[in-house]
Amino acid sequence: MAPRIGELIDSTRDHPVAQPVVYTRDLTREFGVSRVLDGLDLTIAPGEFVALLGRSGSGKSTLLRAIAGLDDGVTGALEVEGPVAVAFQEPRLLPWKSVLANTALGLDAKNPKQVARQALDEVGLTDHADAWPVTLSGGQAQRVSLARALVRDPRLLLLDEPFSALDALTRITMHRLVLSLWQRHRPAVLLVTHDVDEALALADRVLVLRDGQIAFESPVESARPRNRDGAELVALRTRLLSALGVD
Ligand SMILES: Nc1ncnc2c1ncn2[C@@H]1O[C@H](COP(=O)(O)OP(=O)(O)OP(=O)(O)O)[C@@H](O)[C@H]1O
Ligand SMILES: [Mg+2]
Repeated sequence: MAPRIGELIDSTRDHPVAQPVVYTRDLTREFGVSRVLDGLDLTIAPGEFVALLGRSGSGKSTLLRAIAGLDDGVTGALEVEGPVAVAFQEPRLLPWKSVLANTALGLDAKNPKQVARQALDEVGLTDHADAWPVTLSGGQAQRVSLARALVRDPRLLLLDEPFSALDALTRITMHRLVLSLWQRHRPAVLLVTHDVDEALALADRVLVLRDGQIAFESPVESARPRNRDGAELVALRTRLLSALGVD
């Protein structure tokens, strides 16, 4: 018998998983003569944390935009279970609205401000609810961006290099925050990053996008609580760097 969609997901788990949150088959995107996504297959299970690595220009953002439903130029099969929330590399806050109003923006809830306030509490910005975006540090602005994603209570959280502009220490704080939010809310996460170590620190599974396809994929060993110091991890890091064309 052919496997159900859920069973295709990932042989790394002991039990078949329910309906996937992301399911693509033969996903293709062309810009003029350039084929950026070339028959890409990807399945993401509910609650799974997946990191997507790839060289600059390999099509990571293109894939994310397609999954977010922001690109109607893709062909192939694409099924996504919402709600979906996206956070980008730059926080994209509206400068003329307060932090609270930015967080509540477009929110379809009975009491949007209350929901937004709660999300700001969760990212540690209770005291900045009435501040203007311009007064925030880079890390704080990124936390607002996360709060704005959280208020949608997403089943799928898409993160496009959200920490790349931050300094190393703020990044570590943000990693902890994302992990704790993920553990509390359990959305599936697709995190685009250039940073192999970031991928290994956060994800259940790492993917490398190359030539328009998932060219390399591996589960990240060691169950929670996350212990990421083992020799296997070092070996996986080397394989990832090699898949990315870095010696
Ligand atoms: N709207 C567009 N029109 C034409 N070409 C595009 C468009 N969007 C993306 N591309 C091209 O598709 C390729 C992949 O771009 P994409 O932004 O997905 O790469 P990326 O992997 O996210 O890179 P980076 O790591 O630098 O963010 C690039 O060659 C880019 O020029
Ligand atoms: Mg990109």
